[in-house]
Amino acid sequence: MAKNYPTVSEDYKKAVDKAKKKLRGFIAEKNCAPLILRLAWHSAGTFDKKTRTGGPFGTIRHPEELAHGANSGLDIAVRLLEPIKEQFPIISYADFYQLAGVVAVEVTGGPEVPFHPGREDKPNSPPEGRLPDATKGSDHLRDVFGTMGLSDQDIVALSGGHTLGRAHKERSGFEGPWTSNPLIFDNSYFTELLSGEKEGLLQLVSDKTLLTDPIFRPLVEKYAADEDAFFADYAEAHLKLSELGFADA
Ligand code: HEM
Repeated sequence: MAKNYPTVSEDYKKAVDKAKKKLRGFIAEKNCAPLILRLAWHSAGTFDKKTRTGGPFGTIRHPEELAHGANSGLDIAVRLLEPIKEQFPIISYADFYQLAGVVAVEVTGGPEVPFHPGREDKPNSPPEGRLPDATKGSDHLRDVFGTMGLSDQDIVALSGGHTLGRAHKERSGFEGPWTSNPLIFDNSYFTELLSGEKEGLLQLVSDKTLLTDPIFRPLVEKYAADEDAFFADYAEAHLKLSELGFADA
């Protein structure tokens, strides 16, 4: 859906361009793209389209929201980004975290996701419990992503974000990467999913449910066979995710 993008000043646009460059170097150097993508996703994924609460409005840095069970470990991402954020006081945290998420995908070889600035920092964190539970199946995923206003295709494409990174026992209780190259954004999440469980690689219930659901599975097959199709749908879904709560035009 077309969006009514907020207007920002020329100075703001310049700061965003510069911050993007700094983030590219920083994320590549620290190899922290997976954690930064998870930060951007968890800050946006709390959006509730009915009440228009939650969403990518910078609240994830509040201790109360970082303490939500699903956000375990994201205090590290907030801390990592702070020295760069400090160089750009004009940019909202809301914009900064979404910009960092877009850069994390780009620097690991993923698609370029367009970025539009203008999110404002909101004072109130959403209630706990809006992010997905890794032990649940398709109904739950549709419930959670539907609350955000995202589609079945968005669910499958965005799940491909697990092409990056790994689970940490001390954070989520799960352990291990989804692919053998967790710092490269490619379609291997889908090829691994289709090839079955493998020693050392992780498949959560919420990943495996993509194989058994009659609407999700053909998309998994499509993305495994055609990386360009995955990149195109991923970019569209990530853009939607990052712009939840922007007024529709
Ligand atoms: C579909 C529902 C989802 C569930 C149930 C889920 C669950 C999880 C869990 C349990 C972890 C492990 C956290 C840890 O122990 O460090 C994780 C990590 C991760 N998730 Fe998801 N996730 C989902 C969707 C997404 C989406 C939509 C994205 C981004 C587009 C994403 C990106 C990531 C990344 C990049 C990591 C790795 C973080 C790291 O390496 O530190 N996830 N996810």
